[in-house]
Amino acid sequence: MSTTSETTELHRGAPAGTPLLDASDLVAGYLPGVDILNGCSLVVHPGELVGIIGPNGAGKSTLLKALFGLVTVRSGTVTLAGEDITNHRADSLVRRGVGFVPQNNNVFPSLTIEENLQMGMFQAPKRFAERFEFITDLFPTLGDRRRQRAGSLSGGERQMVAMARALMIEPSVLLLDEPSAGLSPVRQDETFIRTRKINKAGVSVVIVEQNARRCLQICDRGYVLDQGRNAYSGPGRELMHDPKVIQLYLGTLATDVEEAAKDHPTPPDAPRAGEPTSGTGPVV
Ligand SMILES: Nc1ncnc2c1ncn2[C@@H]1O[C@H](COP(=O)(O)OP(=O)(O)OP(=O)(O)O)[C@@H](O)[C@H]1O
Ligand SMILES: [Mg+2]
Repeated sequence: MSTTSETTELHRGAPAGTPLLDASDLVAGYLPGVDILNGCSLVVHPGELVGIIGPNGAGKSTLLKALFGLVTVRSGTVTLAGEDITNHRADSLVRRGVGFVPQNNNVFPSLTIEENLQMGMFQAPKRFAERFEFITDLFPTLGDRRRQRAGSLSGGERQMVAMARALMIEPSVLLLDEPSAGLSPVRQDETFIRTRKINKAGVSVVIVEQNARRCLQICDRGYVLDQGRNAYSGPGRELMHDPKVIQLYLGTLATDVEEAAKDHPTPPDAPRAGEPTSGTGPVV
């Protein structure tokens, strides 16, 4: 059992009050006797956007699956608005307002966009029209292209449909597993903007990301997982600038580039690295 000061450190920067989602000391795994999560914890307060980063194989996806009842929790607890939901089945969690978007195979390719969204509402079909209007206000493209088959969409568009489907049930918390994976930089940016938009619309979000720097930029708070344990946590922008986190998990390339720029300042009228050019002249 952790003490209050340990708990505060573990969830550094978290607001006061009862968390919406509270996972405490989770131990979970796939094979008997092999634990993948070795006592990791996370809290999400109402309205928060919380990021989870860490190396490949750290257990990030396993944590989301444990929260969503897809991997058995061997010890530890998960509560939603104070109620124990440890090892509850996914369909019951959906009814309670937990949405989950897995990284892969997250749309029905032979169904249209509209039918995919109907699948998200199978537990409450009468509310489809109302929710469809809300979703298409948020993502107008989906309304315009409602009759297009999901299988004919690009990776980024499919990701949008998958998120929209999870939003149909009006979740209080949405779990996203690597929504930007496999997308071009521009599409990745769109995914982060979309995630922010969903969060601003009042949905608490947990986002697992490989694109750690970008994730920490948009998050209220972040957790760094390593070998199924909490390694670091804190406000997103603090973690982004924490030298230990940079060295171990973010890579030093970006900071090296910044240092080099300080040593060799760019002339005032020249574009800086990463900035788009003005676009007034011909592009050759
Ligand atoms: N279905 C499974 N059966 C057995 N072991 C699994 C299964 N899924 C994942 N694992 C193992 O659990 C560990 C953590 O995997 P997990 O997918 O949670 O990592 P991750 O942090 O999401 O990694 P990545 O960044 O690569 O997505 C890995 O060692 C992996 O081999
Ligand atoms: Mg993963």
